[in-house]
Amino acid sequence: MKVALGADHGGFELKEAIKAHLTEKGYEIVDFGTDSTESVDYAVFGEKVGEYVVKEGILGILCCGTGIGISLAANKVNGVRAACCSDYFSAKMTRAHNNANILALGGRVVGIGLGLELVDIFLSTEFEGGRHQRRIDQITAIENKQK
Ligand code: RB5
Repeated sequence: MKVALGADHGGFELKEAIKAHLTEKGYEIVDFGTDSTESVDYAVFGEKVGEYVVKEGILGILCCGTGIGISLAANKVNGVRAACCSDYFSAKMTRAHNNANILALGGRVVGIGLGLELVDIFLSTEFEGGRHQRRIDQITAIENKQK
């Protein structure tokens, strides 16, 4: 399974830990950077990962200091449903009910241990469909009205 990763400087260390963790588990990682703790702009990485996730129909993980800025940027890409989560239940339910295709994490909010748990539950939970698909379709309709 292929997973796209991206981060700014505030999420760099968590992104690197996620990359090592998922590589060890056999995932194919496409890493859009950043590659150091030098200050960069999170919107750049949110957009790149968002575009790739939609184009490839895969899941992505984004990290910044809070997870918020990078998720806001990614959510501007049509077809992205990025959810910023810092608890296990939300990371699971955003796959099950929202069919989120990107998990955003705050490197300054969650530690590496919790961050990896959130990634694991996000990647292993399937969208339940059914009544939830209707709601996703409504989100898509809002998006299409903006075009
Ligand atoms: C960078 O200092 C920080 O603002 C960024 O990583 C993120 O937290 C924004 O939402």
